[in-house]
Amino acid sequence: MNKKTHFGYKEVDIEDKARHVGGVFSSVATSYDVMNDAMSIGLHRLWKRILVEIAGVKDKDIVLDIAAGTGDIAKLISNQFPSSEIFISDINNEMLALGRERSINEGFSNNTHFCQLSGEAIPFKDNTFDVITIGFGLRNFTDKPSGLKEMRRCLKKNGRLLVLEFSKPTSPLFSKVYDWYSFNILPKLGALLANDSDSYQYLAESIRMHPDQEALKELVLDSGFDDCKFYNLLNGIVAIHVGYKE
Ligand SMILES: C[S@@+](CC[C@H](N)C(=O)[O-])C[C@H]1O[C@@H](n2cnc3c(N)ncnc32)[C@H](O)[C@@H]1O
Repeated sequence: MNKKTHFGYKEVDIEDKARHVGGVFSSVATSYDVMNDAMSIGLHRLWKRILVEIAGVKDKDIVLDIAAGTGDIAKLISNQFPSSEIFISDINNEMLALGRERSINEGFSNNTHFCQLSGEAIPFKDNTFDVITIGFGLRNFTDKPSGLKEMRRCLKKNGRLLVLEFSKPTSPLFSKVYDWYSFNILPKLGALLANDSDSYQYLAESIRMHPDQEALKELVLDSGFDDCKFYNLLNGIVAIHVGYKE
């Protein structure tokens, strides 16, 4: 029998998960930015700013943004550190193409390169990057440990990995409200603004299937990082994990 993994609450064959995830992002690509603002009431912009603040990028650093989508994180880094070099990457050509268009229209194409790749098998040499970022991407990986090991391999000595991802609310009351919002409002918002409630149902389910703060920290450490710290944002709805390679 084929090995199974989860796709939201569904079970799918391991080799089919990337195709299912690809379907979600191809479907939401053109409404992705509008939906991000609507469902987080713009807060995702603040979370990404905090990530860049914590990342400690320096002039001339070489940065890889994995699962970059339309390029929000890379844009912030590019504007703040014009002498850095940023590789903007995503497995999905439609998302990446939108990012590339934005980089030209919004002026962050000078120090950026675009590459279509999976974060689970990164086609760069060992010790290439000073900083690797991944925002709301790890949750969709088929094999998270492989992805994290790949990210560690590609980081230079003293490099940092920053993972921005949905996590587990710390307050039970907040958690109840958040569950209600996720399973009642979010798919309706998806239907209204993106004409696609299934993808936003998947979003809500995939968040629940993702490791919580402590479990993700363990996963980062088990993948060979020498240290890992995390920061909870908005009561732990979102967390930023920082993995350090010594
Ligand atoms: C929710 S979007 C996040 C986009 C952007 N980082 C942001 O924060 O707005 C998730 C992205 O992960 C990408 N993705 C999913 N699986 C991936 C993988 N294995 N490797 C690289 N990118 C992946 C999707 O194509 C999608 O663009």
